[in-house]
Amino acid sequence: MRAIPADFMARGAMLHVGGRSVEDLIAEAGGTPLFVYDLGMVAARIARFRAAFPTIQLHYAVKANPYRPLLDFIISLVDGLDVASAGELRLAVASGAEAASISFAGPGKRDFELEEAIRTGVTLNVESEGEVARALGIGERFGLRPRIAVRVNPDFEIKGSGMRMGGGAKPFGVDAERVPALVRTIIEGGAEWRGFHIFAGSQAVRAEALIEAQRATLNLAAELADAVGEPPPLVNLGGGFGIPYFAGEEPLDVEAIGYALMEAREHLPRSLKSSVFAIELGRWLVGEAGVYLTRIVDRKVSHGKTFLVTDGGMHHQLAASGNFGQVVRRNYPVAIANRMNEAAAEEASIVGCLCTPLDRLADDVMVPRAEPGDVVAVFMAGAYGLSASPQAFLGQPPALEMVVGGSD
Ligand SMILES: Cc1ncc(COP(=O)(O)O)c(C=O)c1O
Repeated sequence: MRAIPADFMARGAMLHVGGRSVEDLIAEAGGTPLFVYDLGMVAARIARFRAAFPTIQLHYAVKANPYRPLLDFIISLVDGLDVASAGELRLAVASGAEAASISFAGPGKRDFELEEAIRTGVTLNVESEGEVARALGIGERFGLRPRIAVRVNPDFEIKGSGMRMGGGAKPFGVDAERVPALVRTIIEGGAEWRGFHIFAGSQAVRAEALIEAQRATLNLAAELADAVGEPPPLVNLGGGFGIPYFAGEEPLDVEAIGYALMEAREHLPRSLKSSVFAIELGRWLVGEAGVYLTRIVDRKVSHGKTFLVTDGGMHHQLAASGNFGQVVRRNYPVAIANRMNEAAAEEASIVGCLCTPLDRLADDVMVPRAEPGDVVAVFMAGAYGLSASPQAFLGQPPALEMVVGGSD
């Protein structure tokens, strides 16, 4: 198991988040299970990005964590939002994001979603020729000019990324060789062509792989711009910055990526000289800032193995159970949040309250001896946590969420 992220600290026995004891936070929120997001950590991430990528726009991918108070906080610190549904679009608009700073990507956009996006004035990152035809038709019907960028399915992927979203046959984006013709259709169809969206993967933890992917992305954008014969107003370089969930993984060297990209920017081909560049991140901005707190309900032994059974589980934090894209299940960092000053004394498995063997939060971890009433902290819970989990499964109560820190 990886050590708990360095930004979390204990005072005496108790884990603190954003400077506050987790028992205080649980009391304030009204109980467990509870997700706590530390806004100070998110702000520090954003500041780090700004320092490393001074001329690149930062967009937040709402899908990573759409919790409204968190989104409200992030909006004031980033340049744009990436949404993936009409639901996220409404949330972004309700949070006060400017329509012009929102882009909407994702396959399978329904007509009502295209219409809502066009009426609102957000940029559609279109995923197919069919989507362009429908968007142009909707624009014509309502006398509106759609804003359209083309999501490109690049011929490369980010090496070693947890989720590959480019390279070969994919439901995402338009194959690169068909993009120039599609851009011409968009322009001739009277829409405002906004540029390219090139998203090659997610959860990459090696800086060299991201540097290589960004280089390839710039080259591809330049080739496409040449073929189109017009400079793209915006080139969204994708993102894919990962975080270290497991033992042996190191934090991403973001400064090295920034340095390489700033260098590449100095030597851009003419076709991209006037373009604005953006990077679109979810997980790296919020993933480590969240912790999932769940209370132990039962302690039991079966065939010599100790189980700590909690009031939470995979219905809130599917990713920690290993069922959200992991091939081999590995433990997220966990701790007994009210026994932080006690040495590990036994091996135990921490499970959720769902009646399924899938509901595991940590297998065979060394922890201090824990009892019912103690609180388990599951770290790395800020991205793809509650909103990416099967909350209705088995009719268990919902989890609570809260933010701490930020302005105080
Ligand atoms: C188009 C797009 N943008 C952004 C993201 C966010 O990725 P991450 O949270 O890994 O930064 C994803 C994730 O799948 C995506 O598909």
